[in-house]
Amino acid sequence: MVKVDVKYTKLFINNEWVDAVSKKTFATINPQDETVIAEVAEGDKADVDIAVAAAKKAFHRYSTWRTMDASKRGQLMLKLADLIESQAKYLAELETLDCGKPVKISEEEVYHSASVIRYYAGKADKILGNTIPADGEVFSMTVKEPVGVCAQIIPWNYPITMLSWKIAPALAAGCTIILKPAEQTPLTALAVAALIKEAGFPPGVVNIIPGYGPTAGAALTHHPDVDKVAFTGSTEVGRLILGAAPAANLKRVTLELGGKSPLVVFDDADVEQAAQIAHEAAFANGGQCCCAGTRTFVQAGIYEQFVAKAAEIANNRSVGNPYDDVQQGPQIDQDMYSKVLGYIEAGKSGGARCVAGGNKLGDKGYYIKPTVFADVNDDMTIAREEIFGPVQSILKFETFEEVVDRANDTNYGLGAGVITNDITLALSFAKLVKAGSVWINTYDHVTSQTPFGGCKESGIGRELGEDGINQYLETKTITLALPKIPQL
Ligand code: NAI
Ligand code: MG
Repeated sequence: MVKVDVKYTKLFINNEWVDAVSKKTFATINPQDETVIAEVAEGDKADVDIAVAAAKKAFHRYSTWRTMDASKRGQLMLKLADLIESQAKYLAELETLDCGKPVKISEEEVYHSASVIRYYAGKADKILGNTIPADGEVFSMTVKEPVGVCAQIIPWNYPITMLSWKIAPALAAGCTIILKPAEQTPLTALAVAALIKEAGFPPGVVNIIPGYGPTAGAALTHHPDVDKVAFTGSTEVGRLILGAAPAANLKRVTLELGGKSPLVVFDDADVEQAAQIAHEAAFANGGQCCCAGTRTFVQAGIYEQFVAKAAEIANNRSVGNPYDDVQQGPQIDQDMYSKVLGYIEAGKSGGARCVAGGNKLGDKGYYIKPTVFADVNDDMTIAREEIFGPVQSILKFETFEEVVDRANDTNYGLGAGVITNDITLALSFAKLVKAGSVWINTYDHVTSQTPFGGCKESGIGRELGEDGINQYLETKTITLALPKIPQL
């Protein structure tokens, strides 16, 4: 077992490390072997109150942060990105310890996080308003201002990535932040907090409060001094937040929630290549991915060939110690492990044909064999509900019109994919499918520059790209009366 030094386990408020007011702590568990990694300070309402007050003070009109040149904000962010990269190996090992993903992938995510922070650092001094030819003898313009104090609640599946997607646009916009990492994975957020201080951000600009959802999370969403909540997680909690947050003070809400994304493979595709893309779409991050392409629709002409290939690739997927060179580590925790195994049973009892995996792997840690079901129907539980584990469902279709309707027959609308060499077919599908992102002949290609988010029950708003920063800005219209111009 790799030994990773856990340096930070307290709450981070006002650039200081503090215990919870209650003095309570909670254990963060290693999903490889179910042992306790560390006890972490457990934030609750009293701590949220202190952190929100700190963030509010840091947002005051005359604060260091608000009066700082926008370009300087960008420079602080660039410094933070450099510091994150300088500790990439350590942060990756810490991430893997806490969430079990292969360390090679953790390291890629650390670099991705730095790239997101750099992308938005560049935007800090390029937030432009307009001049407007308004009716009347006036001069009108708009300025874009930061929304204010932002609560950001993130999940456990991509801890450091989600942190970067949340804090980067908010900092570039000039907001202040209270971020709550998931209770399963508080460690990299705390390690980044130390780097935020080292980079030179003023106290109170970023505060990190580990803790549970119904306590610390709910205190944030109900707080009257929080101007905006940005959340990534389950649709169930997204609904709760949407109820609580606007009701408290009409705060802004952006949500990035669940999915049941379709990936459609047409007859003309290269079966081997298509099966590879579909495999990664379903199994990336052990299937713990909001936009996972879990409904693989395959056209009848290549269906059986595709099923055989998909089973072969899944059977060859390496699963094991995430510090070794593997493709998949353990699932995040006991709850998700049991939930996913329950869905696998539902697949079997519902009549789907299990062609790979179908059970747990080993007796210690939350390991599950990559599982492929063929002959899945649209109304089976495994085709309708988000499983969030290493399970691929393969469905057969005949025509374009049919598959568009079936792909859209879901409450979700996060990602979608299509594999074909026919560009007209691909773009027609892209136009007709209801999803925030559509990938053609690839899947899950997400970068700093490309907006990401969902339609329908997959969420509200977009992260990344130009859209991402707009969610942290308010438009102010300023109109000045001019003297009346004499008529000639
Ligand atoms: P969750 O939605 O309960 O947790 C996500 C975050 O929300 C965590 O930080 C949690 O502490 C917080 N939270 C929980 N209840 C809250 C509340 N009442 N108020 C404010 N914050 C709250 O997700 P969970 O339980 O970890 O996973 C359940 C399911 O959610 C998964 O099976 C999966 O289907 C989905 N999920 C989707 C994710 C995505 O990326 N969209 C990420 C994680 C889970
Ligand atoms: Mg939950």
